Order: sequence, then C-alpha cells, then structure tokens
Amino acid sequence: MSLVQFAVLFLFLVGFVSVWYLFNYFFGPRMDDPDGYARVAGNCGDTMEIGFKVEQGRITRTHHWTDGCSVSGQCVESAARLAMDKKPEELEKITMISIMDQVGQLPDTHLHCAQLAETTLHKALADYRKKETLSIK
Ligand code: FES
Repeated sequence: MSLVQFAVLFLFLVGFVSVWYLFNYFFGPRMDDPDGYARVAGNCGDTMEIGFKVEQGRITRTHHWTDGCSVSGQCVESAARLAMDKKPEELEKITMISIMDQVGQLPDTHLHCAQLAETTLHKALADYRKKETLSIK
C-alpha cells in the first residue's frame, strides 16, 4: 500500500467516524419532558445522559445517551434497562455492582464507566424527587 492510498483510507475512516458521531449526537433519540433527567460528565471527559418517565408509580420509559466509548455505552444502557418497571425509590438500589453484573467483567481501566452510569441514574432520581417536591407544594 502506497503512502497516498494509506492517507486516502485514513481520511475516509476519519470522515466516516466523524459523520457517524455527529449523526448520533444530533439525531439520536431524545425524550421530551422527562420526569427525571441527568446529564453528567465524568473525570475521563465522557458524558452520560439518562432520562425516564413515571406512570402510575413505575418507570415506564427510559432514555440513555453517551458520547463515551463502547463500555460507557453498555454501562449507561444497562443502568437504563435496570431502571425499567421499577418504582423511583428502587433506583437507589441500582449501583455500579448491579450494572457490572449486567454488563459483565469490566477491565480495571473502565470500572469508572459503571460508576458514572450509577451517578447519572441517581442524579436523574434526584431530579425526579426535586420535581415531585415542587409539584406537591
Ligand atoms: Fe469515560 Fe467510560 S471511558 S465513562
């Protein structure tokens, strides 16, 4: 492979990944007016987002998003999946351990992905409680 061919291939791959990222970022599914929502950036620079809707005391829909690596994606998706059909107060019991039980063995370098997913879920719960308190008063 010549240097020109390598450069063309490299630019094609960079372009493909950039388009995929931008498409996913701007056109990824969003949740309108979630009952609980959090967007948290971790120390690694990755951001996670979780939102959920509550109907008749149970979480009936969830939304998740991250701009992080595949492990981040698996962790935030697992956190959102674990939240489904739960009562909001049950979200407190979802920890990085329960997320890792779903995702499987994580490398030591990516344990913080499960921690960030737990933090994001719990902040979404805090947002839900804050909205509930405001709506009661
Ligand atoms: Fe940053 Fe996973 S590498 S959350």
